[in-house]
Amino acid sequence: MNIRRLEDVDVRGKRVFIRADLNVPQDDAGRITDDTRIRASVPGILDALARGAAVMVTSHLGRPAEGQWSQADSLAPVAERLAELLGKPVPLVRDWVDGGGWHAALKPGEVVLLENCRFNRGEKKDSEELARRMAKLCDVYVNDAFGTAHRAEATTHGLARAAPVACAGPLLAAELDALTRALASPKRPLVAIVAGSKVSTKLTILRALAAKVDVLIVGGGIANTFILAAGGDIGNSLAEPELVAEAKAILDAFPGKVPIPVDAVTAKEFKETARPVLKAIENVEPDDLILDIGPTTVAALVTVIARAGTIVWNGPVGVFEFDAFAGGTKALGEAIAASAAYSLAGGGDTVAAIAKFGLADRIDYISTGGGAFLEFLEGKTLPAVAALELP
Ligand code: 3PG
Repeated sequence: MNIRRLEDVDVRGKRVFIRADLNVPQDDAGRITDDTRIRASVPGILDALARGAAVMVTSHLGRPAEGQWSQADSLAPVAERLAELLGKPVPLVRDWVDGGGWHAALKPGEVVLLENCRFNRGEKKDSEELARRMAKLCDVYVNDAFGTAHRAEATTHGLARAAPVACAGPLLAAELDALTRALASPKRPLVAIVAGSKVSTKLTILRALAAKVDVLIVGGGIANTFILAAGGDIGNSLAEPELVAEAKAILDAFPGKVPIPVDAVTAKEFKETARPVLKAIENVEPDDLILDIGPTTVAALVTVIARAGTIVWNGPVGVFEFDAFAGGTKALGEAIAASAAYSLAGGGDTVAAIAKFGLADRIDYISTGGGAFLEFLEGKTLPAVAALELP
């Protein structure tokens, strides 16, 4: 990937437009419940400010209707948090596309937050006309929004083409470096963990990774479908019988690459207070729910992880939110943290599990991307990244 980086661009006295992904979760009162993405965007902003740029930052938040402002999707709470993190005022500008007084007044060393870019008509459809108008606001366009890199929208794609200079911010660059290190030229053995409730949502990832990795660990509902494909019983557990043939095709194409769980922690009901019962897979009864992997499976997978050169982790292998069924995810997470392998993790549930078990500072890279992380794993080209590629 031949992409210019912000650190290589002289921004002194320039107007720098940063597209960040500040799409953070909020509670019903609009309070930010996890500011990871805002914190991850700070280094790019600080770098541009420290080197004498006048900085404007924008992001989407949620999926608002275009052409109208709404309180619920306003970046106001984000502006407040960003100001705290930067230690300087961050005025929020509405109706900013064609510049105006705020633009004329913006000085080097100052930063403004431009209101939710998805309020602008044409944003989601990647309008060239909108991109051209936005391009007039800046000398340098910086995409630091890895979380939105799988979307071709006016601020992620069109603007990269229309701006005088376009480059990747440090977060986007770090994400791409981490993913490339893990997948393009990994230290072997390369072990991927792909888990979660449904094969259908991750089928293309499973197919793409099966071809690339040395061991593909499946977990959760995905593993249940693979257990069926391998001829095992899963009782009343979550699975997709219609995808058993797909799972079998992967098992047949890559013999020995996908370890199938041999034991499980089961329950009769899907409840935090349900009584956990440990069983070998062949003893699973018709009314059993498999809610976690069992200790024999854990021990085998921990050995695989301990020998890995690179580990890519997406998805919990059990219902880690319920303590009685969190053991498998915790044990694999701890094995990843303890391993000398280069480790990369991503996806909402995975990041939540990492936080729950206090593993964050022992995983080499934790992606801020949800959909973008998954699409990269699938081997897809991310349009926002493609738009930055130099000829
Ligand atoms: C995300 O949260 O995955 C990104 O911010 C993209 O959001 P979107 O799915 O609304 O495009």
